[in-house]
Amino acid sequence: MANFTPPRFPGPGDVLPAFHKSEQSVQMLASRRSTLAKNMTGPGPSQAELDTLLTIGARTPDHGKLFPWRFIVFQGEARSRFGEILHDRFKVLEPEAPPERYDLERRRFERAPVVIAVISDVTENHKIPLWEQQLSAGAVCQNLLIGANALGYGAQWLTEWYAYDREIKAALGLASGERVAGFVYVGNAAVDPVERARKAARISHWS
Ligand SMILES: Cc1cc2nc3c(=O)[nH]c(=O)nc-3n(C[C@H](O)[C@H](O)[C@H](O)COP(=O)(O)O)c2cc1C
Repeated sequence: MANFTPPRFPGPGDVLPAFHKSEQSVQMLASRRSTLAKNMTGPGPSQAELDTLLTIGARTPDHGKLFPWRFIVFQGEARSRFGEILHDRFKVLEPEAPPERYDLERRRFERAPVVIAVISDVTENHKIPLWEQQLSAGAVCQNLLIGANALGYGAQWLTEWYAYDREIKAALGLASGERVAGFVYVGNAAVDPVERARKAARISHWS
């Protein structure tokens, strides 16, 4: 975004507007779509935009003020270095895969200029149920998608095979109990997304 001016983030105790009525925001939410990671290009968010996006992501409801999540950011060469780890692990898991698949694994994180891993970091045996702590990490991912769109970038929430692989989780430095809520890919959209089929929301009225 040219000439990006970071928003004003409030501090504790600041009185805030209860709503932000905005036709533009409503239209954005009404037509939000993920941009496929393979349709992303650079240069992606600047450092100031990324800092803003992460702060927006962290402004998510969480019961008990546990902040039960953390971020791991991949930019620049970190993406190709992590790609080597994905490639090597995938080769162990699938030794008979075609060469182009190994190449895809090596370049996975290079599909977007920025990849944000959202790590669910729950507190066990706490009065706040684990389920609620995990939901909060999902809300962070959604906030990142919306925040990225508002900043002018496409975004996609992916897990793919490596979110669940023991060795990859170790390479990410996850502690026992930590889980990947999602890898949020963020970049310039090279191709505008097209609306997908959606089922109507299932709504019932309790009586
Ligand atoms: C938790 C979670 C994990 C996902 N993981 C994948 C994935 O591994 N691969 C994939 O193709 N889509 C995955 N998706 C779906 C896409 O990111 C995206 O939501 C979907 O294509 C629908 O797009 P929309 O946001 O435009 O409705 C995942 C979605 C969620 C919520």
